[in-house]
Amino acid sequence: MTPDSVDPRRVPCCELAGRRIPRIGMGTFGSDRYGPEEISGAVAGAIRFGYRLFDCASVYGNEDQIGKVFDEAFSAGFVKREEIFVISKVWNDMHGRGDVLLSLARSLRDLRLDYVDAYLVHWPFPNYHAPGCDGDARNPDSVPFSADSYMDVWRQMEKIHDMGLARCIGMSNMTIPKMEAVLPRCRIKPALVEMELHPSFQQPELFRYCLSRGIQPIAYSPLGSPNRPGRDRSAEDVVDMELPEVDAAARAHGIHPAQVCLKWAVQRGQIPIPFSAHEKNYRANLLALLEDPLTEAEMKAIEGADKNCRLIKGQVFLWEGAKSWEDLWD
Ligand SMILES: NC(=O)c1ccc[n+]([C@@H]2O[C@H](COP(=O)([O-])OP(=O)(O)OC[C@H]3O[C@@H](n4cnc5c(N)ncnc54)[C@H](OP(=O)(O)O)[C@@H]3O)[C@@H](O)[C@H]2O)c1
Repeated sequence: MTPDSVDPRRVPCCELAGRRIPRIGMGTFGSDRYGPEEISGAVAGAIRFGYRLFDCASVYGNEDQIGKVFDEAFSAGFVKREEIFVISKVWNDMHGRGDVLLSLARSLRDLRLDYVDAYLVHWPFPNYHAPGCDGDARNPDSVPFSADSYMDVWRQMEKIHDMGLARCIGMSNMTIPKMEAVLPRCRIKPALVEMELHPSFQQPELFRYCLSRGIQPIAYSPLGSPNRPGRDRSAEDVVDMELPEVDAAARAHGIHPAQVCLKWAVQRGQIPIPFSAHEKNYRANLLALLEDPLTEAEMKAIEGADKNCRLIKGQVFLWEGAKSWEDLWD
């Protein structure tokens, strides 16, 4: 029988920027399927159940509703501010001078917080989403990626860290060449990098690159984002939860394939941030970490299931000379 709640002290933890944080969090992007109230309702239920890490972003359009939930949880004395770890992100249209602080100030207002635990640059593209441009690299009004413009944003990130408004700062959707271009120039190194990671898309080089530099990989879409809108899907995409290697482990342990994906992620050293609007599912996702680990053989089998199958590719973000999404991910 599923317990009503899990003592957060039982959830496996790791160190991040001098803090102990849970090895699993909850995403808050509803893949266009759920409204802000449904998502914040799930966040409320997840806090009650024992989740303590939440992945938010201004572009998800629900920080205000999630902020109400945090506020109520604090006021009710259910959880203290310092017991939760909140990530938020600056969107691509806020890369101009002074914009990062403005964007964070809005997120803090909406989330009803004095600081975020981590603030990330959502995408490494200074994409202003100009009218008619809409992130299409083939549009002549598009602004291409450059290390210099990324560094302009990163300097602002460093400043908000100095100001104590973000306890740590990080990146998202990076590649090794982009990190190589910016890391040597960072006064404050990223503590975490959020990236797409699931059994069919393991990004082994980038993953190892981050770990070897003490940067914590945060795994987005850790279940392979099974309900993503069509714009992010192609016919050849693999369904992670149907991979034979995942299915075999699920059968052996008598658990759902989603739980296998999450055990694999955590045992590999990732912090997965699965989203679910359904109590049964988000509870099962947290519980996965409290049960028996996958065996070494199961871990190896899933490692072998990598298909280099990137899902989040539908939006053609800006990259000099990019003619298709493949060009963006050098
Ligand atoms: N940094 C970035 O650029 C970026 C990009 C993408 C995502 N993210 C973050 O990562 C989070 C997670 O990614 P995601 O939402 O794309 O994909 P995901 O977590 O891999 O998959 C979410 C989907 O899986 C279903 N699900 C969850 N638990 C399940 C379970 N136990 N059994 C069966 N189905 C289950 C959910 O459906 P139900 O709701 O029906 O349960 C939901 O539709 C996002 O919410 C967001 O916070 C960040």
